[in-house]
Amino acid sequence: MLDWNEPATEAPSVLKLTQPAAEDVATPDPTGLGAIDRNAGRVRVDQKAMINCRADVNQLLPLKYRWAWEKYLSGCNNHWMPTEISMQADIALWKSPNGLTEDERRAIKRNLGFFAASESLVANNIVLAIYRHLTNPECRQYLLRQAFEEAVHTHTFQYIVDSLGLDEGELFNMYREVASITDKAAWAIKYTQHLSDPMFATGSQGADQAFLRDLIAFYVVFEGMWFYTGFAQILSLGRRNKMVGIAEQYQYILRDESIHLNFGIDVINQIKIENPHLWSEEFQEEVRGMLRSAAELEASYGRDTMPNGFLGLSAALCEQYMYFIANRRCGQLGLVPVFPETENPFPWMSEAMDLKKEKNFFETRVIEYQNGGSLNWE
Ligand SMILES: [Fe+2]
Ligand SMILES: [Fe+2]
Repeated sequence: MLDWNEPATEAPSVLKLTQPAAEDVATPDPTGLGAIDRNAGRVRVDQKAMINCRADVNQLLPLKYRWAWEKYLSGCNNHWMPTEISMQADIALWKSPNGLTEDERRAIKRNLGFFAASESLVANNIVLAIYRHLTNPECRQYLLRQAFEEAVHTHTFQYIVDSLGLDEGELFNMYREVASITDKAAWAIKYTQHLSDPMFATGSQGADQAFLRDLIAFYVVFEGMWFYTGFAQILSLGRRNKMVGIAEQYQYILRDESIHLNFGIDVINQIKIENPHLWSEEFQEEVRGMLRSAAELEASYGRDTMPNGFLGLSAALCEQYMYFIANRRCGQLGLVPVFPETENPFPWMSEAMDLKKEKNFFETRVIEYQNGGSLNWE
């Protein structure tokens, strides 16, 4: 069983760091759907590159980036479906007039509303912006798996809305109607708008940096920062035996997202290794500014979502967690931390991420999840 904990990402290994030589250029076709060149030679591993690769993108083998292939295998091993998780306890609690406080209901609804649309935004960014410009077949193989996982996550919110009898229009429109959620979505969307333009092409310093910005906005900020405070909110309730079905689903989403995040970090770091000119001092400062502003947006979302706080959870704790996570992401990208050193206010989050070790975390007694089957219960 592969370990899906969130290790500090090591610099991915590469066989050769140089871009393909000009004479190796077979056909300038980053899509893989251009005319077939009958005279092109077979792809050599040293011709493969993360971006601006001109070697045939339809040839998975020979593998160059084993870390991408291994993440694809990990994702497949972690297969799950939301409908395998019982919602009975959540339904009873949600319908009970005294089961939850108004503050808890507000936080849960906003949290669900944020995730419901965000999973689609992340999926659309992969399929319509990232995929085309990441010119490596093993990375694309992982993107295809990730895109499916995002569909499973969106399915989770459909299942929750359906189970609890929530107002679907209210939940799925929150990213347009609740300012603190709209602010976050709008912040990320501006980075993907360039890339989804059919005229956008990588190959210049400006365009390649725009591509890196999009990777950072979605993998590091959306999936690697904002989702983590969202997980902490629901898992904190789960620790108090509230909304345990949703909390279990969030544990599975967190397991998937920790691989998405680490894939994104590896992709960014590999692009840096192959294109050091893109990672200038000035650009590093810009990225630090992105992480800082994303953390501030999350802090105001926390104040809006939890104006009074409740047992074990408050806007102040979520803000502190965001600063802790932002610094951690800086470390993974090789950047100077953006905030003063901060203690993790939710140390139990690392336990929550270890589904096997903490099998009784929500009294659900999960033994082990295996692909191709359903959850095993003791
Ligand atoms: Fe997701
Ligand atoms: Fe994701």
